[in-house]
Amino acid sequence: MGNIRIIGTGRCLGEKVVSNDDIATIVDTSDQWITSRTGIKERRISISKNTSDLATDAAIKAIKTAEIDVLDLDLIIVATTTPESFTPSTACLVQAKLGAENAVAFDISAACSGFIYSINCARKFLDGIRFKKALVVGAEVLSRIVDWKDRSTCVLFGDGAGAAILEYSEEAGGVIDVYIGSNGSKGKCLNTGRFNIENPFVKSDDVGNHKLSMAGKEVFKFAVNIIPYSVSKVLEENSISLDEIKYIVPHQANYRIVESASKRLKVPMDRFYINLNKYGNTSAASIPIALDEMNEKGMINKGDKIILVGFGGGLTWGAILLQW
Ligand code: COA
Repeated sequence: MGNIRIIGTGRCLGEKVVSNDDIATIVDTSDQWITSRTGIKERRISISKNTSDLATDAAIKAIKTAEIDVLDLDLIIVATTTPESFTPSTACLVQAKLGAENAVAFDISAACSGFIYSINCARKFLDGIRFKKALVVGAEVLSRIVDWKDRSTCVLFGDGAGAAILEYSEEAGGVIDVYIGSNGSKGKCLNTGRFNIENPFVKSDDVGNHKLSMAGKEVFKFAVNIIPYSVSKVLEENSISLDEIKYIVPHQANYRIVESASKRLKVPMDRFYINLNKYGNTSAASIPIALDEMNEKGMINKGDKIILVGFGGGLTWGAILLQW
């Protein structure tokens, strides 16, 4: 059996830079509060690009760095919580925009863990026969579902997309292991409301609020436990020690969450990659955006082992042990 290697990455961010001071003109907050509680200084908000546009632009860069032809893609998976339509899927929209006519395309909904789930799904498809190359994208326009009147959540999120090209390869390295988990019974603590049944035969009590709401403290507690747990899980199951891991790339939600994981795992902060100060929480996009920045900066070299770790709505979580 071959390996599943990442051979290209890309990213695209919402074009408008929105600072904490800008947010303070919308809700009762301050740069001091947001910075001290989250580490976020600014986020990028989409003005003209919808989910599939951000995803396509990130994909174009990933395809370029992978040096492949778009027609080589056999599979496109887009992880998103904020698709621009129920159907077509964002992945089908991306397929059309790229002209990737040989690819099978579909979306995955696993909130901020979406990229981890999608990599796992793609690696199950990639058999070296029918499926040789996959495009996996995390893409979000969270500004669409954020409640801009709720200061406890609207300060946290941003828009963007990150992409990776995966290839079935005989060469050593790639995805060593993936661990994923879910707990639907805790779904309420991070949700966007629900659509009630509505048709000519039933009276709906749908109040039409489908904005994001969150029990911040509960999610915080979940996050600080699940990061060390997921990281330890992929290490233990593969008999690899933390010392062998060059970087941990966490979902970019909150600096204090990463700090707590750093203490619990006894890994210094400089081995965690952090860019949430610039982009806030971009949900499914945050890990692939980080990966692309690291790749661009030359921070990861062939043979380096890294761990990607995510958590979010659902609740969902997961970690990927990867050899570059
Ligand atoms: N600006 C100013 N004050 C704010 C504020 C804001 N943006 N948001 C909340 N507050 C206030 C609250 O109203 C509260 O005031 P009170 O004490 O008068 O009632 C006070 O700040 C403390 O609020 P609290 O919710 O206890 O703050 P916190 O320390 O738990 O921090 C979060 C809030 C959201 C930053 C934190 O809970 C968190 O990061 N949770 C995880 C969120 C997350 O990462 N979600 C995504 C997972 S994928």
